[in-house]
Amino acid sequence: MKLTTYEQEILDGKHGEMRQKSLQVLCALAEHEGVEEFVEVTLCHSDNAVYMGEAAADFIEFLGNSGAKMAVPTTTNACSIDMQKWYEQGFEPQIMNAIRRMEAAHVKLGAIPTWTCAPYQSCVQPVFGQQIVSAESNVICYYNSVIGARTNRYAGPLELLGGIAGRVPYSGLHVKENRYAEGLVKLSDEFKPEWFEDDSLWNLISYAYGSIVGNRVWAIEGMPTKFRSENLRDFSATAASSGGIALYHMIGVTPEAQTKEMAFNGKKPLYEEIITLDSIRKAEETLNNRDVSDDLDVILLGCPHLSYDDCRRIVQLFDGRKVSDKLEFNITVGRDIANRLMDAGVYEDLSRLGIKVYKEGCALEFRTKARGVRSMMSNSGKFGTYSFGLTGIQPVFGSLTECVESAVAGRVVKEVKPWRK
Ligand code: F3S
Repeated sequence: MKLTTYEQEILDGKHGEMRQKSLQVLCALAEHEGVEEFVEVTLCHSDNAVYMGEAAADFIEFLGNSGAKMAVPTTTNACSIDMQKWYEQGFEPQIMNAIRRMEAAHVKLGAIPTWTCAPYQSCVQPVFGQQIVSAESNVICYYNSVIGARTNRYAGPLELLGGIAGRVPYSGLHVKENRYAEGLVKLSDEFKPEWFEDDSLWNLISYAYGSIVGNRVWAIEGMPTKFRSENLRDFSATAASSGGIALYHMIGVTPEAQTKEMAFNGKKPLYEEIITLDSIRKAEETLNNRDVSDDLDVILLGCPHLSYDDCRRIVQLFDGRKVSDKLEFNITVGRDIANRLMDAGVYEDLSRLGIKVYKEGCALEFRTKARGVRSMMSNSGKFGTYSFGLTGIQPVFGSLTECVESAVAGRVVKEVKPWRK
């Protein structure tokens, strides 16, 4: 390895035992990747927050008790539960205790306890070109694509070691030359600009995009240049789960693709694919559970965590109506957003409508089936992709408006859409 003086000092143990051990592990990773240099990272988003069993909790606790400190500002991802309402979500006290241990360990390491999978809606986010380290797929995809920061898709433990060492191997998406697109997805001219006001279309196009592109770096052409940042959040989350997308370029939208030439470094795309209305229809058929008719039990939004603006929109869409007593309407937000909702009175507005607001936890970790839930609805492409495998329930997929209308009606309400037969 070509090491700087500081990196050599770390390996010599002059900056603490755990920083030394972390860099030793990262040296092995660099060797495995055939890389001879490290790059300095200046932000970490820790995905070691969900309770994945005692071994994972012990690992973070071991780091916390070691006296190590994060070398860089570090935010924490969603954990498994709402730390105040965990009993409502069907969790046992042992899980709550484990989460508290993991929280304490993160705080000892010097992390900022944000507990959100949408830290870009929170207090800390990187800037264009910033080298960072993260393991949360939607965060990686959003930071790389929408902000132009640089990270690979790390495994949870590695991301923490990178944050403690302040270094990762200079490989993959950390390197500018590896960030150019090699293929292009075009939208067919069937798509009308006004359709993009429907948030579900962003999820469906993204699902189709991820299914085509897999884990490669490609670009997409034909998306509107007028959007809400939440549209890009949803696009990032869904593409990162239907495929393994870590970086996409949206021509005319994302910073490394203000023009097609920029995205392709002046070259021609090596591959081209097209997304048609039929692709969208198929994406929706895959995401959606069409067997649910009238027996909807829970509507669950917030994968990734909802923004403050999402919550205000939900209140507006209810327009004075309330959640039917036939079902539950649950939303999840990060700790910061929950505080902001409380300060602004929106938390109270949501509660008055019959909406249960949960904070900090991951929607996929909720003990839905154990609580007797048989049918769910969500507006999230990521939730729709993972839900059956992780909760045993395939949700009905709908737009935010359809989720609200279904909540009021107490059954699934679907609108007519151009791609629906
Ligand atoms: Fe967040 Fe869990 Fe979805 S971490 S993005 S709510 S899978």
